[in-house]
Amino acid sequence: MLHASPYYSTRTQSLEMLRFRPLNSTFIRPFSSLHYSSLPITIPFVGSGSTSRGTATRFYPSVMASLSTVSTQNEVVSSHDESTQKISQPPLQVAKRLEKFKTTIFTQMSMLAIKHGAINLGQGFPNFDGPEFVKEAAIQAIKDGKNQYARGYGVPDLNLAVAARFEKDTGLVVDPEKEVTVTSGCTEAIAATMLGLINPGDEVILFAPFYDSYEATLSMAGAKIKCVTLRPPKFSVPLDELKSIISKNTRAILINTPHNPTGKMFTREELNVIASLCIENDVLVITDEVYDKLAFEMDHISMASLPGMYERTVTLNSLGKTFSLTGWKIGWAIAAPHLSWGVRQAHSFLTFATSTPMQYAAATALRAPESYYKELKKDYMAKKAILVEGLKAAGFVVYPSSGTYFIIVDHTPFGLENDVAFCEYLIKEVGVVAIPTSVFYLNPEDGKNLVRFTFCKDEGTLKSAVDRMKEKLTKK
Ligand SMILES: Cc1ncc(COP(=O)(O)O)c(C=O)c1O
Repeated sequence: MLHASPYYSTRTQSLEMLRFRPLNSTFIRPFSSLHYSSLPITIPFVGSGSTSRGTATRFYPSVMASLSTVSTQNEVVSSHDESTQKISQPPLQVAKRLEKFKTTIFTQMSMLAIKHGAINLGQGFPNFDGPEFVKEAAIQAIKDGKNQYARGYGVPDLNLAVAARFEKDTGLVVDPEKEVTVTSGCTEAIAATMLGLINPGDEVILFAPFYDSYEATLSMAGAKIKCVTLRPPKFSVPLDELKSIISKNTRAILINTPHNPTGKMFTREELNVIASLCIENDVLVITDEVYDKLAFEMDHISMASLPGMYERTVTLNSLGKTFSLTGWKIGWAIAAPHLSWGVRQAHSFLTFATSTPMQYAAATALRAPESYYKELKKDYMAKKAILVEGLKAAGFVVYPSSGTYFIIVDHTPFGLENDVAFCEYLIKEVGVVAIPTSVFYLNPEDGKNLVRFTFCKDEGTLKSAVDRMKEKLTKK
């Protein structure tokens, strides 16, 4: 039995969960719900394994274990379990650069939501569809025969549309042919940037909590991660700490504004300090701005627009959040030609090109009138109000969120020992899914009091979730 980090206790669950063992003594395999109801159920509460990552050790929650038919590394069963295993399968293999990463928390929680019939305020995908005019454009592009490989760095029309939108938003004029690279979602833009511009051993600074793919792609690139933690209530950048870790060895700083999971938006003052540190130390900035159009409490500021920064900044974005089309996976990286070169080299060998008809439709989307963005914001502000008021009424300590469709709360009024225990309780006893935030930190302890809710759901869903929490959660 594995022991998790100090705050995760080991206990027996009466759930339809699986027995966890260290990976070297187990098989990991897909199984059906028919199988798992008959499996042994004594498990450590948290921790399907411990993983060393520099000075920090991360444990992934076993609460995610009671899953459905999709294979995850948490579906770990004994190779001797006769009742479930007729044919012996070889142990799973994974290269060292990825062995510390587990099934992403978002997949795990969404699967749990299905299993328990809980309302999913966990993963950040809308439960409503994207706009008709964009879907029509995709259908038209398919009918028009735009179905073969696209040009590697993007169909000309989309490169143009991305450059035009960037100019409108930031005032910066970029060359669509040399400075815009279309990718398969922002996720691929992140990977292409890390793999194309970061050398093994380079130091890269992240702000924790951080979106999970940053660490995995940096690991693939062989980078050394340095981490600065943003703390509640404001999640401000501790500038002195940042100054103390940035050096001539730093290759890049990765920022994300508006920020997932906290909803924080980097202020002009913070960006100015980061910018001057980067100029002084010759450091690149990689900035993930996928929530730029979901800026509610202040104006979004692109790092690239600060004086002297365009030449050292790679700006990443995508269509998914702004157009409620997260499944389309159309993204892009904008950078000066000398940086775009590295991004494109990696992109060429990761995916080479992205879905052709969807790129044409994305170009149509980006030409949406300002009224589209205004309406989007108005809708989301109404949704946000429902969730924030509901969470407060249910008894959470709610931290201010300026942008994104996420809200971070402190769950400790309800007396559960950590974020994972709270999320498990919330799913099973209340019927609502949230995301434990410890998975967004290098040191999971930093997130143990916090859970994240999303409001990218229709108002009826948000109201039902809030009603369940108000009715069933009781303060300890
Ligand atoms: C901060 C952040 N960056 C990138 C992504 C991934 O974007 P895409 O779906 O375009 O790959 C997400 C998705 O949740 C995100 O939250």
